[in-house]
Amino acid sequence: MAAKKSAPKPAPQPEPTKARKPAKTGEPASAWSSALPTVPELIARKRDGGALQTAEIQAIVDGFVKGQIADYQMSALAMAVFFKGMTPEETTALTLAMRDSGRVVDTKSVRARKVDKHSTGGVGDKVSLCLAPLVAACGVAVPMVSGRGLGHTGGTLDKLESIPGFSVSMGVEQFVQQVRDIGCALIGQTADIAPADKRLYALRDVTATVESIPLITASILSKKLAEGIDGLVLDVKVGRGAFMKTEADARALAQSLVRVGTLAGKEVTAYLTSMEAPLGRTIGNALEAREAIEILHGKGPQDLREITLVLGAEMLLMGRVAKNDRDARRKLEAAIQDRSGLRVLRQVVDAQGGDPRCVEDPSTIPRASRIVPITTSKRGHVQKIDALALGQLGVAMGAGRTRADQAVDPLVGIVLHKQIGDKVAPGEAVCELHLSKGQDEKLFGERALAAFTIGSAAATPPPLVIDVIRK
Ligand code: URA
Repeated sequence: MAAKKSAPKPAPQPEPTKARKPAKTGEPASAWSSALPTVPELIARKRDGGALQTAEIQAIVDGFVKGQIADYQMSALAMAVFFKGMTPEETTALTLAMRDSGRVVDTKSVRARKVDKHSTGGVGDKVSLCLAPLVAACGVAVPMVSGRGLGHTGGTLDKLESIPGFSVSMGVEQFVQQVRDIGCALIGQTADIAPADKRLYALRDVTATVESIPLITASILSKKLAEGIDGLVLDVKVGRGAFMKTEADARALAQSLVRVGTLAGKEVTAYLTSMEAPLGRTIGNALEAREAIEILHGKGPQDLREITLVLGAEMLLMGRVAKNDRDARRKLEAAIQDRSGLRVLRQVVDAQGGDPRCVEDPSTIPRASRIVPITTSKRGHVQKIDALALGQLGVAMGAGRTRADQAVDPLVGIVLHKQIGDKVAPGEAVCELHLSKGQDEKLFGERALAAFTIGSAAATPPPLVIDVIRK
């Protein structure tokens, strides 16, 4: 099933594939097995709504990575999948073939169960930074391979890199050793993790075939399953600031992820959570890193803490270190209270070259030199905060990127002073902008203000957790 076509571009970074050797038009490449139908025949079968066999999908992915299948053939197949979809069995075969196109991390030497979390991306979503060490402190190993921000949604790697010195690059052996020693490592995708996904995503990005549930499912799960995990908790965001704008689309993606992850032999649960308004009070890399660390200090905004506890409890259950949801929440709260989550993050930051003082005292994370309050002339209640508009403003300010090769400015961003339901009076600041030298505060200020809908009627924030999808 195709999702809504206006969805923005998500995380993986495309790279040019020009250098690859194309197959001859209409002809299977010489290494293509004569026992299989030709590539044009397989494309035609999918185009006409038929199903592909596991061996056929494996051969397609293998041939694509080896340059035996041309980009135009793979693009045509992606378009056929976009319109005709795939069965869960086909999507599972695609996921596993893409996972096996590269290295699958061998985590057998890590004795604890290994569980990761993946978010489909949102504005102000900094959950991974506090969740991973907190869960590790409770005895579940978290081998987390994350992405960079692209489009209006931020990326965990950019947030981590706002901690001075922090490196997100590491070899696979070192990654496994850190997970063994500390219980957690937070790194970026290495070139040998699911390379078929990287190449296919590059084609999808330029052929209008990103918004396909089976292709998104295979893309997300192939990378996550390559981490050598036992279980995965998915945070599928829904709303204006999310990749999936409607609950129906988000639900369809969540169901596909859970079904295919389960068929692939993993424990997978998906939460549908709201992304109408930004999560927490900050947007921008250093600001978000600071806010996430505050959670481990027992401070920080309530919505961020709540999502961290909800997803964390699920991870503890998958990790077999809690009896039930209540027990899991108690353990997580205790790990905040006794600072053990903070200690794990300190060890991770230390091991990955970052400045551990930023963990002890998050106010030492660098901040922008120009901070400008944005005030309203209205009286009333905040009824809506447009997450998409603020995410796009963040990108315009330099906190995010529109092309994979762009650098981000770690210091710029937005701090919300008001949230949905808050009262405001004329002259009060609804937010503040953290700007770099020479940035146009008037223009950015107008855009920020326009993201707040203020009216006379009282309002309440939408529920944070919409639903949970299990096997
Ligand atoms: N995120 C991914 O990793 N891949 C997709 O195709 C879409 C979102």
